[in-house]
Amino acid sequence: MTKKGRVFSGARPTGRQHLGNYLGAIRNYVALQAEYDCVYCIVDVHALTTVETTQDLKLNTFEMALDWLAAGIRPDESILFVQSHVPEVMELHTYLSMVTQLGKLTDLPTFKEKIRQQPENINYGLVGYPVLMTADIVLYKSDVVPVGIDQAPHIEFAREIVRSFNYRYDTKALIEPQVKHTEVLKVIGIDGKDKMSKSLNNHIELASTPEETIKRVREMVTDPARQRRTDPGNPDVCNVFTMHKIMSPQVEVDMINTECRIAGIGCVDCKLRFATNLNKHLEPFRAKRAELVSQESYVQDVLHDGGQRARAIAQKTMIEVREAMQLP
Ligand code: AMP
Ligand code: TRP
Repeated sequence: MTKKGRVFSGARPTGRQHLGNYLGAIRNYVALQAEYDCVYCIVDVHALTTVETTQDLKLNTFEMALDWLAAGIRPDESILFVQSHVPEVMELHTYLSMVTQLGKLTDLPTFKEKIRQQPENINYGLVGYPVLMTADIVLYKSDVVPVGIDQAPHIEFAREIVRSFNYRYDTKALIEPQVKHTEVLKVIGIDGKDKMSKSLNNHIELASTPEETIKRVREMVTDPARQRRTDPGNPDVCNVFTMHKIMSPQVEVDMINTECRIAGIGCVDCKLRFATNLNKHLEPFRAKRAELVSQESYVQDVLHDGGQRARAIAQKTMIEVREAMQLP
């Protein structure tokens, strides 16, 4: 089947993926494979801009590859690779930096947020983060980039860099990418308050055992106004109900929606039902993951092969880029 175009997306290697990563990104990566020629990248070079993600880089890259493959990225069809395996991206980053205004980079909300988060480590790489991201996207002549809403300014920025480059060098070598927002979905952590994330330790790992999952789900914060089993609850403000709406069969969602309001069902029962549905949903993922864990060299081969296929595309683009720039 002819595909609609090329999709590219990347994520920093944060190790084992959680439910937020799955519902907010991975599920979408998997679905896009049916219609697009997909390139998915574990961006280890971007990870070096922050200290936490610099640690255990190799292990985290491997764990993330395991999760993406177990979730359904098909390496025979799509390219799954590690950013640093294609050094051309660093070269392109340098060239693109010459058509990028520094003031625009330092004005980006994502940069300002990083300054607040790590005032002691405002490194040069952090400023250039969106330029490297642009290099990732354009190196593979990507048409569509699926990302969360927080990354939208970066894609708009990439489009500007592409226009500047093509104009400066009077070329059409680079393609302006389109953003594709993943379903607007922000998964809240088990604290019922913040976005699910590993750093806040409010996450549920996809690779946990069913027992660990039940334990984590039991810790989920529900409607705070519901103190006792006999108090009626309000599902509209309960994160467990939100998760039921995403993962559970409609009849069960309807039942909880009614019964919670009249104290017909308690929070413990409601959470157990969610844990059961979640475990059922994750069963094939966990089976596939266990199989992959026992085939470490297969996973390394997938990444190696993906890197080679990605590099072949990158090298072609770089020939055009250097030619346009009149680099000998
Ligand atoms: P991160 O691990 O923060 O680099 O995120 C990797 C991908 O997962 C990005 O595309 C995020 O948008 C997505 N993601 C991470 N956490 C969540 C969450 N709590 N809810 C929805 N999407 C998320
Ligand atoms: N900046 C993205 C993030 O923090 C990761 C990323 C790097 C990316 N290069 C990319 C995303 C290219 C999409 C396309 O989540």
